[in-house]
Amino acid sequence: MLDKINGLKRSCYCGEVTEDCIDKELTLMGWVAKERNLGSLIFLDLRDREGIVQIVFDSTEDSELFEKASKLRSEYVIAVVGTVRKRSSINENIPTGRVEVLAKELRILNKSEVPPIYIKDDDDVSENMRLKYRFLDLRKLSMQKILKARSKFYKITRDFFSEEGFIEVETPMLSKPTPEGARDYLVPSRVNAGKFYALPQSPQLMKQLLMISGLDKYIQITKCFRDEDLRANRQPEFTQIDMELSFVDVEDIIEINERFIKKAFKEMIDLDLDLPFKRMKYKDAMDKYGSDKPDLRFGLELVDLSEELKSCGFKVFESACSEGKSVRAINVKDGAAFYSRKKISKLEDFVKDFGAKGLAWIKLENGEVSSPIAKFLDEKVIENIIKKLEAKDGDLLLFVADKNSVVYDSLGNLRNKVAKDMDLIEDDTYAITWITEFPLFEYDEEEERFVAVHHPFTSPMDEDLDLFDTDLGKMRAKAYDLVINGYEVGGGSIRINDPNIQSKMFEVMGFSDEDIEEKFGFLIEAFKYGAPPHGGLAYGLDRLLMIFTNTTNIRDVIAFPKTQSATDLLTGAPAELEDKDIEEVHIKTIK
Ligand code: AMO
Ligand code: AMP
Repeated sequence: MLDKINGLKRSCYCGEVTEDCIDKELTLMGWVAKERNLGSLIFLDLRDREGIVQIVFDSTEDSELFEKASKLRSEYVIAVVGTVRKRSSINENIPTGRVEVLAKELRILNKSEVPPIYIKDDDDVSENMRLKYRFLDLRKLSMQKILKARSKFYKITRDFFSEEGFIEVETPMLSKPTPEGARDYLVPSRVNAGKFYALPQSPQLMKQLLMISGLDKYIQITKCFRDEDLRANRQPEFTQIDMELSFVDVEDIIEINERFIKKAFKEMIDLDLDLPFKRMKYKDAMDKYGSDKPDLRFGLELVDLSEELKSCGFKVFESACSEGKSVRAINVKDGAAFYSRKKISKLEDFVKDFGAKGLAWIKLENGEVSSPIAKFLDEKVIENIIKKLEAKDGDLLLFVADKNSVVYDSLGNLRNKVAKDMDLIEDDTYAITWITEFPLFEYDEEEERFVAVHHPFTSPMDEDLDLFDTDLGKMRAKAYDLVINGYEVGGGSIRINDPNIQSKMFEVMGFSDEDIEEKFGFLIEAFKYGAPPHGGLAYGLDRLLMIFTNTTNIRDVIAFPKTQSATDLLTGAPAELEDKDIEEVHIKTIK
């Protein structure tokens, strides 16, 4: 029989028992973290969400109690009444390490089987086991610390935006597809045979409607759903801090969000950020870093060598330059000794994953130039390259020649890899930048048409409106992303509120009237009745938390996350259904 709690009240959390409590009698409740039976003394660590405290059972004080305590095992749930005293062997690593509790009463409130994973912060069990037994994984103090940080961040967010006059509004989960570019998660309707809801990829359309309604400033912390290929910083369901404001332009949105991020960093990790944040145009980010979310904690900038190499003698480079592609390189300072030939061939495999056909290199070592391509290159050309890359003895130069998108993607990712390999990133540094002036359209080779980079409601820059008729590829958007340490943590735009511009957008993207009516008819209709100028932004809350808690794995900051293949190892979702359940929603599955 288990003991009952029977009116017993907890005095405080285990983690709160400090020297101030000495000689006091306390009642503590929690889980047995560790027990050591030394024959006449039992020491056990009692754990709750605030920490661990040492409990002592002394057989010379109470043999019956000692007998009961000797039955305790890891993860048993107990209540202990006892007196706090100074500890003889001090543990400086924990806040309760100078005290212990001499037990005089023990209640066993529940037993536990031997847990399949250790409840230990540094346990190196596989992540799949952690996810399958997430309820135990979350018992770890390190995981609880993250969940507490998350909860604190909700409050900071709500407090800030509420003080700024934002109104929190919930938007529907069962809705129509939103144009964010990923695949939708669909929900079949039982009462409307053959019809489906889409889970929102974002509240984009609803928040624009709220501006037309006159809410003026909207905020929501909300789940979004995207069926897309998952990576270390993507989840199929994730959380956005989503906002929209009326009667504003880009600067207004940036200004309020800089103050928000400053406050968040101060309260979350006690860091004072300087305002305003750095800004970088999309084009410069691509040219210098090969990415629209550059990690600016280190250099390794891309350098365009197309001019120097257009008639260098090496065919691969020459033909790239003549075909309107480019040759770019990064200078890995002191990389010559760090990267052996074997390691460089690993780097070559790495860039091939991003579409590069090869990775040419030049090493400057002991006053000599070594390189598989040196034999093709004129001495003068090599000299020019060295000069342009500001290369010195000991450096390694890495080159990719291809169409720009491939060069950017491969060198952009390569610079991240090199920085990690060579440990170039200092701990606890935060490089924050806005990326602005995104292209409005990109050409979709498969569909052979221009598509919106952000979404079709994003406003073009005023100075680019003339390009509608001449050069869509050059048009820039009133769109901005916030990038921290190489993560896109947020993004948004000013929306179109001029019906003529909106029709022009649809027209150049090849939307038929039926398409428009079917996809966004309700929004177009709403726009007829006085849409104020408006714009907004959404943060990936999970990504901001990754930064605040210093993890590179998005699953660490989500209580019950999905795996890379979008499964939930704990509940077994997604699951098969019985035929009758599927029929009821009027669908057939292809087995
Ligand atoms: P966007 O699609 O850029 O913009 O999304 C905003 C932010 O959400 C985060 N994010 C994700 N986080 C985790 N997992 C994912 N799968 C995932 N996808 C996106 C990113 C991103 O910056 N409606 C617009 C915002 C606006 O225009 O106001 C939108 O959703 O951090
Ligand atoms: P190859 O003559 O094809 O053997 O290539 C000689 C060197 O050039 C090798 O180190 C290749 O990795 C490199 N290389 C080949 N194609 C490219 C390319 N498109 N960009 C950069 N380097 C390349």
